[in-house]
Amino acid sequence: MSMKERESAGEKLNDAGLQEKPWGGRFREPLDKKAEAFSASINFDRRLAEEDIQGSFAHCAMLVKKGILTPAEGEQITQGLREIEEDILQGRFVFDPSLEDIHMNIERKLTEKIGPAGGKLHTARSRNDQVALDMHLYVKKQSAEVERAIFALQEVLLELAEKYLDVIFPGYTHLQRAQPVLFSHHMMAYFWMLQRDRERFREVFRRADMMPLGAGALSGTSFPIDREDVAAQLGFGGLYENSMDAVSDRDFVLDFLYGASLLMMHLSRFSEELILWSSQEFSFIELGDAYTTGSSMMPQKKNPDIPELVRGKTGRVYGNLMALLVVFKGLPLAYNKDMQEDKEPLFDTVDTIKDVLFLYADLLRSMKLCEEKMKHSVKKDFSVATELADFLARNGVPFREAHAVTGQLVRKALESGKFLDELSDKELARIHPLLAFPEAREMLLPRKAVEAKKCRGGTAPEAVRRQLDLAGEILQKSGGDITGKRI
Ligand code: ARG
Repeated sequence: MSMKERESAGEKLNDAGLQEKPWGGRFREPLDKKAEAFSASINFDRRLAEEDIQGSFAHCAMLVKKGILTPAEGEQITQGLREIEEDILQGRFVFDPSLEDIHMNIERKLTEKIGPAGGKLHTARSRNDQVALDMHLYVKKQSAEVERAIFALQEVLLELAEKYLDVIFPGYTHLQRAQPVLFSHHMMAYFWMLQRDRERFREVFRRADMMPLGAGALSGTSFPIDREDVAAQLGFGGLYENSMDAVSDRDFVLDFLYGASLLMMHLSRFSEELILWSSQEFSFIELGDAYTTGSSMMPQKKNPDIPELVRGKTGRVYGNLMALLVVFKGLPLAYNKDMQEDKEPLFDTVDTIKDVLFLYADLLRSMKLCEEKMKHSVKKDFSVATELADFLARNGVPFREAHAVTGQLVRKALESGKFLDELSDKELARIHPLLAFPEAREMLLPRKAVEAKKCRGGTAPEAVRRQLDLAGEILQKSGGDITGKRI
């Protein structure tokens, strides 16, 4: 085909007859096909289409306001972008890997649609500040959504804690029975972890709330732009004060990945407990059939796949954080193509934690407690031993001595194959006279042990009630989303 025929077939060619890249003028040889495929990010950064178009609307409006584009050009560009937006939403847009990324795909389509005015949209802008803008908008949107999803999970924890307020079960240290606690207290421990996670995502939002556009490729722009106007149009709370900083850093993405890693760490520990508790050895809970699977070979099995996968996916979320930290550690300022590697770890993390959060809320709702088994567990163990030591200490025995005396008692009981409440008054008195008092025997009741922990933050029902009320208030107050709109 001649150059003329190829051009009339829609190909943009430079004077060397090459398929035109936006930078085509400088080149005499086309990009190697494998290198092109290697560099292209369109397969994943098409996810930024919405943000890219939103940013372009604002940039274009500002260029018109500043007289850099004519109102007619502005109108044409805006109309073209609207059509592209619709095409993308409807799945009609054909993404072209030879155009590398979402920015060039949209810009080329715009020029095809509206002619030369399309080429003016990129005035006073570089893909470097453009992609930084898209990423800021994306991180803001996602951190707001994640914050909401954490909120929803906190609501479920609160429901569970209310429902099972008085259920006692063993608390562990070193995975050894330690002291009896309320199940609601245990649930609330995760509530507060999630509260901090939610605060972290609010902070991620706040840090990403900085507008980078106007940085150009790295040094700013010679056009009389109005960055404050763009920031205001896009709802940013602030803007970058240094163009090189604006296009070089992705710390706000790393903040998101770190927040996600901590969130996953919490849910992974929770998952580990759900897995243990639903084992035959513990039998404290049963997870709903809808969230467990059977074995293809062993008919009796009910496997906690969902919590196992949450625990497993935690590794992948940590990996994404690590990957991006390593990508950035040696990059000189300003933009480097390495930075394109920020997207997949972020997108993968967003997908993973949203799936996890939504599923987790339902998983927890499906959980049933085996209250009998829990009750039995705290009776048939030594987890009230501390209560006896505390009782002795309250009655004038130095705590260290009280601890030693109770230790002897446990050893005695173990040697005679009994639990503490099965020892006779005589056996108790032989270890320490105070232990023969009826008040001492009362201390052996798990409920007494729990009720005694009245201190703020303790596991006594009234202390947990206080937590629940406070938690309820916190959820009520922070029910709005973090983008500033209160819903
Ligand atoms: N796709 C690129 C990225 O995500 C956009 C910025 C490209 N800039 C450049 N100078 N090659 O990083």
